[in-house]
Amino acid sequence: MAQEDVFKKIVSHCKEYGFVFPSSDIYDGLGAVYDYGQNGVELKNNIKQYWWQSMVLLHENIVGIDSAVFMHPTIWKASGHVDAFNDPLIDNRDSKKRYRADVLIEDQIARYEEKIEKEIAKARKRFKENFDESQYRATSPRVLDLVQKRDALHNRYSEAMNAMNLEELKQIILDEEIVCPISGTRNWTDVRQFNLMFKTEVGSTADGASTIYLRPETAQGIFVNYLNVQKTGRMKIPFGIAQIGKAFRNEIVARQFIFRMREFEQMEMQFFVKPGTELQWFEQWKQIRMAWHQALGFGAENYRFHDHEKLAHYANAASDVEFRMPFGFKEVEGIHSRTDFDLSQHAKYSGRKIEYFDPESNESYTPYVIETSIGVDRMFLSIMCHSYCEETLEGGESRVVLRLPAALAPTKLAVMPLVRKDGLPEKAREIMDELKFHFNCKYDEKDSIGKRYRRQDAVGTPYCITIDHDTLSDNCVTLRDRDTMQQQRVAIADLRSLIENKVSLTSLLKKLK
Ligand code: GAP
Repeated sequence: MAQEDVFKKIVSHCKEYGFVFPSSDIYDGLGAVYDYGQNGVELKNNIKQYWWQSMVLLHENIVGIDSAVFMHPTIWKASGHVDAFNDPLIDNRDSKKRYRADVLIEDQIARYEEKIEKEIAKARKRFKENFDESQYRATSPRVLDLVQKRDALHNRYSEAMNAMNLEELKQIILDEEIVCPISGTRNWTDVRQFNLMFKTEVGSTADGASTIYLRPETAQGIFVNYLNVQKTGRMKIPFGIAQIGKAFRNEIVARQFIFRMREFEQMEMQFFVKPGTELQWFEQWKQIRMAWHQALGFGAENYRFHDHEKLAHYANAASDVEFRMPFGFKEVEGIHSRTDFDLSQHAKYSGRKIEYFDPESNESYTPYVIETSIGVDRMFLSIMCHSYCEETLEGGESRVVLRLPAALAPTKLAVMPLVRKDGLPEKAREIMDELKFHFNCKYDEKDSIGKRYRRQDAVGTPYCITIDHDTLSDNCVTLRDRDTMQQQRVAIADLRSLIENKVSLTSLLKKLK
């Protein structure tokens, strides 16, 4: 099945099984805004818990905060967002559709990549087991030509973006003969800048309302609380402040479902270090964060770092963690060495001294910062994409199963009486009433057992237990594993420890040691 079709199936599965709904659905939705349903909210909460506990529980020198969405407007001037948090936009005059110029060009780069991969796939088919991919890449004139075109475009594009040269971006679009996907024409306007921050007003207009912004990142809430936390928490450098919260960006091109949203959630951690040690810490945080991703068991081959070649003026290193989505490797997390830019800017704009007195060296300095910043929704999407699986079973039957990591699954255990009589529902309720204090359980007595298993497979429930007539006398149940579909007879008294071991967040966190 084409990856595009797989992605469409994942999107409809998310809606059908209560994971993600379009916002304001009965009013036909609101662009790039989504709601999480009864299963989605559980998965999302589990992702957040996994992140939060890995930061705040496992690191003695990291504490959390929860800052407000609304902040003093000068903060966004100091951070550079008012002047520079822009996307380059271009319109097609025929379709009247608006696009991000950078996205049009990145899509073109991706098209070269697709062509290269197609050439390789064709050659592999032709040469079968004699195929030597690296030799083919190094010698095939067609592949070399495509690589040269891709790299030349990439370099030209990077330079134009770094200089924010809008004329050059338009020229690239014209030279590459990029057409509007709707009208099919190259009738483009000039490229212009568009600030991504949402504005609103605070106070009544009569007594002079002032413009404030919905925060486009949670990080600034951490920077402006640096002094509060450092002093009240008696924090010693190096230390970190973690935060999970909503962020808002007026994204023009709403694409790929919850990958790019206008209202989304971030999990950010700013780690304050002594100047001169930041690159060491940057490397260390890259490794820590990659281990966090890989502990989910999706396979190391599905992740890669994308180190930024050209850096923002305030950064001295930056790298993205990319995950293989059905639409290619995409950024899920950014790790940035932000120097002392943010704290210095806030010191300048607020007039406050924002420094750290180092008792060991007896000196004061403005700390440098390593930031790890991950989108909850992108993480959610990557997990759904990797877990969704259509299987043909022995006997030709098929099933859709969400192979979610057990610790993140919305429901850990489904409790099912075989029939709705003979005291089996009562026994099932009794078991559930005990286990529900330890993990998320769902009671299900409708339809055949086969149908009930399918329903639980589709929402990723790792375990089901069936209570049958024998249970009443032997106090055992049938425990069924989602992935292997194998069943075993288990004593009710052993259920809790058996399941808890496999589904608890603790077991996942222990992999991070
Ligand atoms: N404080 C740094 C910062 O905000 P970013 O690369 O702009 O950096 C960090 O964003 C992460 O937030 C991204 O890696 C992505 O996971 C998530 N993110 C950013 N924009 C998003 C959007 N429009 N929709 C969903 N997630 C987004």
